[in-house]
Amino acid sequence: MIALTNLAKSFQGLPVLAGVDLEVPKGSFTVLIGPSGCGKSTLLDVITGVCPRDAGELSWEGRPRQDLRDAAAYMQQNDLLLPWRSLLDNALLPAEVAGRDLPAARRKAGELLVRMGLAGFEGHRPHMVSGGMRQRCALVRTLMFERPIILLDEPFASLDAITRRRLHRLLLLLPTDFGRTILMITHDIEEALMLADQLLVASPSPMRVRGRWRLAQPKPRRPEDPELLRIRGEVLALLEDAEGGA
Ligand SMILES: Nc1ncnc2c1ncn2[C@@H]1O[C@H](COP(=O)(O)OP(=O)(O)OP(=O)(O)O)[C@@H](O)[C@H]1O
Ligand SMILES: [Mg+2]
Repeated sequence: MIALTNLAKSFQGLPVLAGVDLEVPKGSFTVLIGPSGCGKSTLLDVITGVCPRDAGELSWEGRPRQDLRDAAAYMQQNDLLLPWRSLLDNALLPAEVAGRDLPAARRKAGELLVRMGLAGFEGHRPHMVSGGMRQRCALVRTLMFERPIILLDEPFASLDAITRRRLHRLLLLLPTDFGRTILMITHDIEEALMLADQLLVASPSPMRVRGRWRLAQPKPRRPEDPELLRIRGEVLALLEDAEGGA
């Protein structure tokens, strides 16, 4: 389990994270949803040590940690692919850095690129493909880290609804296939309801966790499931209330 207690972060004296408490159970798919600018990317940056926290505690599997940079693969909001490398070579980067067996990694990366709908584009460089394709490649690269924790910052933001749904099915295999623990950020409530075992709603800046739902429905889920529709209503009410109230 990842546990964050009273995590705080300010930039130039302005609080962005104002005492964030949350738990991500091991092997779960936790989704965090919240208004733009509320501090979601900052939260993942602090968890991974991209920037240090000011206060609060972080632990993984019961052990306090400075950050999770060694345990987590982090897909940042912008894709950060290397422009001079092909999609396949971008996806291979984690295996190269870790010194893993390259022929095996090449096979695995190739398979994942195909599963993401990128067959035939393995040799293209990032500027030759669309934003959504770059995102999918960045997701493959993230999976290639082979770390127990996956942190995803709006991984599907530039994808159409159909491609999104296909990738959802793929992501759903991760916890069961590989025992990964996932924390994902999204703006898309439908996406959150389809994927989350635990759904967290963030307040506007400075961020706290304002609401939490456990979703036990088996996946893949039906969007018209009455229980999901009820939760959807509650989440929307909280998000709208936050926008009006704060
Ligand atoms: N390195 C930084 N220096 C100064 N301010 C920062 C820095 N990083 C983030 N901020 C500020 O922190 C606040 C939260 O930003 P953040 O990117 O975490 O929001 P977000 O919830 O991810 O937004 P979005 O949904 O639009 O991606 C913003 O006001 C932003 O300007
Ligand atoms: Mg963000």
